[in-house]
Amino acid sequence: MMPAEAGTQNMNFEIKSFDTLESTNTEALNQARNGAGEGLCVTAHEQTAGRGRYGRSWVSGKDAGLFLSVVLRPKLEPVYVPLITLMTGVAVHDALAEMGVISDIKWVNDIHVDGKKICGILAETTETDAGLAIVVGIGLNMNSESFPPYLAASSTSLAEELGRSVSREELINALTRHMDKFYAILTGENGPAAIVEHWRQRSSYFEGKSVRAVMERETIFGTTAGLEPNGALRVAKSDGTIAIIQAGDVEQLRAVI
Ligand code: BTN
Repeated sequence: MMPAEAGTQNMNFEIKSFDTLESTNTEALNQARNGAGEGLCVTAHEQTAGRGRYGRSWVSGKDAGLFLSVVLRPKLEPVYVPLITLMTGVAVHDALAEMGVISDIKWVNDIHVDGKKICGILAETTETDAGLAIVVGIGLNMNSESFPPYLAASSTSLAEELGRSVSREELINALTRHMDKFYAILTGENGPAAIVEHWRQRSSYFEGKSVRAVMERETIFGTTAGLEPNGALRVAKSDGTIAIIQAGDVEQLRAVI
């Protein structure tokens, strides 16, 4: 493992690989409750109940994607916990770039290539005897062969983008290396502001994007106007006011063309 470039908190990664799990997030949350330390990575070739945000299912056929969940125990003020998702998006973005795939981070948890989703991120928390643990789950499409028809038009995969397959080992290595780097930045001095700046440099959603944000009680139309220090999205509405959208509140965010 390469040393991180900045910050304080580095991880000792330990990979636990399974053939089949209901969900790597569920397994990692259980392991965290049973005392697993920071850096435990749970991965599975297939998930029978992979999940995304808002209880949506995450299609997880055998070796169709990388399904990876990492246990974190960050020394971070609770207000900044949502930045774990943004930090992971930055790490995934750079791991893909290292392989030759140029991606965009769609607030808050999607990685897109030319408007098609290649990766989703789901962070979940649990109380443990050693304090709060966060499990960040990464679902990265490795090939497109088993996309169900309703996903085929809006999704892409590493193999589709590169014209070659990438091994799980190569991918896990790249992801954990970049996570180690950006996690150390996040948990270091002025880490939250540094992660927001890294995110700004990698996302077309940071400012000037026309969006529609669907929340439980309202739908907001407007233009993105930067992030709050905790990663919440600022949206300038046509009446001149700024709506602040917290990651946990939005059911759907769409670019409006
Ligand atoms: C989303 O886009 O809604 C987030 C999808 C996250 C999927 C990953 S796959 C590995 C981990 N295990 C799960 O059950 N979900 C996450």
